[in-house]
Amino acid sequence: MIQARDRLARPLGDLRISVTDRCNLRCGYCMPSEVFGPGFAYTPADRMLSFDEIARLCRVFAQAGVRRVRLTGGEPLLRPHLELLVAMLADIEDIDEVALTTNGTMLAARAQALAAAGLSRVTVSLDALRADVLAAMSGREFPLARVLAGITAAADAGLGPVKVNMVVRRGVNDHCVLEMAEFFRGRSEIVRFIEFMDVGATNGWQPADVVTAAEIREQLDRRWGLEPLAPSRAGEVATRWRYADGAGEIGFIHSVSEPFCGQCSRARLSADGALYTCLFATSGTDLRGPLRAGATDAELVQLIGRVWSNRTDRYSAERATEARSTMPSTAAPKVEMSYIGG
Ligand code: GTP
Ligand code: 5AD
Ligand code: SF4
Ligand code: SF4
Repeated sequence: MIQARDRLARPLGDLRISVTDRCNLRCGYCMPSEVFGPGFAYTPADRMLSFDEIARLCRVFAQAGVRRVRLTGGEPLLRPHLELLVAMLADIEDIDEVALTTNGTMLAARAQALAAAGLSRVTVSLDALRADVLAAMSGREFPLARVLAGITAAADAGLGPVKVNMVVRRGVNDHCVLEMAEFFRGRSEIVRFIEFMDVGATNGWQPADVVTAAEIREQLDRRWGLEPLAPSRAGEVATRWRYADGAGEIGFIHSVSEPFCGQCSRARLSADGALYTCLFATSGTDLRGPLRAGATDAELVQLIGRVWSNRTDRYSAERATEARSTMPSTAAPKVEMSYIGG
């Protein structure tokens, strides 16, 4: 076992695995339908990692220091029999937690099986509660009742506290912040308000579209009163708050206005087996090639350790200070979040 540290002394601790780059929704901030149309070239089946390959790499990542795994996509529940993969990953010694980020549209029927397979917890993306706003955000007719049933089923299956991710876009769903908070107040779910990020190269991000976490927090504080909570662990993405009247916890993910790169311990594995060391990367390191060519575990641990120890990524922090002269982003497009895993 090695504990890889990067050039900024950040340890490797988390692995986010994209199990598919496909999704049944077309959120404009992630997979806009004008780009991800019928002709879009997704990763072909023979380039996708099998469950055995993902589990093998996960064991190797555990040897390089990873303790927490999150399955993402695209929409991870589009991958048939995902429960089998969950069971394989939950079995790995040293992996303390296997979590899932999903759009919730297919969750209700599968929550029990996922929990039985060893899933630790679930995060569901939900950007509003009104049909017209949901359609505008998700690019499709949005099955709200199914998603709400999925959230409840996950909580009932012991996958809670379920976190609910709301990406806030100015002029699209920012008028829904209070009603989202109101709906989930007093329930077990933790709503997290997320600043719209300039991830990928297709979502048309403009700084003016970002509603800052501070703006949202002030709005909620005026209405109900908020008190800060301590982080539940180092390097956590969300800052945690609670309602002063005891109606529960909420969170803010302010990667644009207050970047959290300094503590970033997250590696990402794409569905076709490339390792990325930043959400905003333009290129990754192929692990599928060496894996299929017969590399030993020790060789793969070394490769991952080498990549991590050369890591200097701090995209969001650099964006914030506009000190981006070292960023390659003008030369090559950033990879899409649906490919690299949110
Ligand atoms: P928890 O362990 O439950 O806190 O999970 P999480 O917040 O790490 O995961 P989730 O998939 O819910 O992600 C929440 C939001 O944070 C999404 O918009 C992610 O894209 C964003 N996010 C997660 N990790 C990073 C990161 O390393 N950098 C940036 N900039 N954003 C991130
Ligand atoms: N900015 C912020 N969050 C995003 N997500 C997807 N695209 C973006 C973006 N451009 C969120 C999804 C999901 C999580 C994995 O990332 O809503 O909850
Ligand atoms: Fe699909 Fe999630 Fe991206 Fe929306 S944010 S298009 S649900 S992967
Ligand atoms: Fe980590 Fe890159 Fe996100 Fe910064 S921008 S927190 S380095 S993934």
